[in-house]
Amino acid sequence: MFIFKDQVAFVTGGASGIGYSIACALAKRGSKVVLADIDVAQTAKALNDFPGEAIGIKLNVADRENWLQAREETESKLGEVGILINNAGIVDNPLAPIAEREFLDYPYEKWDRMININLAGVANGIKTFGPGMRKNRFGHIVNTSSTQGLIPTAGLAAYSVSKFGVVAITEALRDELAPFDVGVSVLFPGATASRIGINALKEAGLPASESMLAPGLDPAVTAEMVINGIKNNKLYIITHGEYRKYCEDRFARIIAEFTETPASQDYSPDKPVPATREWARDKYVRKV
Ligand SMILES: NC(=O)c1ccc[n+]([C@@H]2O[C@H](COP(=O)([O-])OP(=O)(O)OC[C@H]3O[C@@H](n4cnc5c(N)ncnc54)[C@H](O)[C@@H]3O)[C@@H](O)[C@H]2O)c1
Repeated sequence: MFIFKDQVAFVTGGASGIGYSIACALAKRGSKVVLADIDVAQTAKALNDFPGEAIGIKLNVADRENWLQAREETESKLGEVGILINNAGIVDNPLAPIAEREFLDYPYEKWDRMININLAGVANGIKTFGPGMRKNRFGHIVNTSSTQGLIPTAGLAAYSVSKFGVVAITEALRDELAPFDVGVSVLFPGATASRIGINALKEAGLPASESMLAPGLDPAVTAEMVINGIKNNKLYIITHGEYRKYCEDRFARIIAEFTETPASQDYSPDKPVPATREWARDKYVRKV
């Protein structure tokens, strides 16, 4: 059984929305929480009336130097991190016209920003705190993806790429860290009530008021799903059942194509197929 009490939990995007709710849920179970967020004002608000022990650290998840500083500050104030919630993320301006969202017209600056925050930000967090967990042979990492990490969609290509990347890194890392008793999960939120739309409007230089919370699931519900996911070391934490059909449709299209594709001449049922979990287990997963 995973013990939350007295663990140091580092939550990126912890000042708002899903990250804040996960931080509260962890604190209620006795974890000492770091709210790591780029938004200092929102972090200060979040720390007001916070239901447990917490500190705030300013962090841009895209900045590796920032991560090193954040680790030093966390370890000196609270100790080594046992729970890492790689959750900070951005979306595109929800009011942008189609012409600005189509991938052919999507500016490189936006692409770089999306990948640097949503995907590289997760990798940076893993590479900052993962080695300590492996050394201690204890810990859990949750990476926030999206339903867009399951079903890519027109108009959301950059966001989808970033969220598919989060799934890939989670699945590889989970097998690499399993021998060290470190769990790794990926969270797939659907629409969740948060400030993500407000933040995207502000980034686009558009007026945004605090009353413009995105509609959707209460993030406190998502947070309890995350707690359950950590307790049970679930690989996938899915919040919105209505996406099942779309996953089934996507996988059915892939499987249909396989039925028309014969195995290659190198295939033998007696040896692992290259670049599969079975193959990697012998080759790349440490025995400890
Ligand atoms: N809200 C939804 O409907 C929804 C759906 C699917 C996935 N998600 C994902 O959930 C995660 C959390 O989003 P949310 O909905 O709670 O949004 P939110 O905007 O309320 O919270 C995200 C937090 O991340 C912080 N942040 C943004 N860029 C950062 C950076 N470079 N470094 C550090 N912190 C940064 C923001 O300041 C904010 O406090 C994101 O990864 C998002 O993609 C949200």
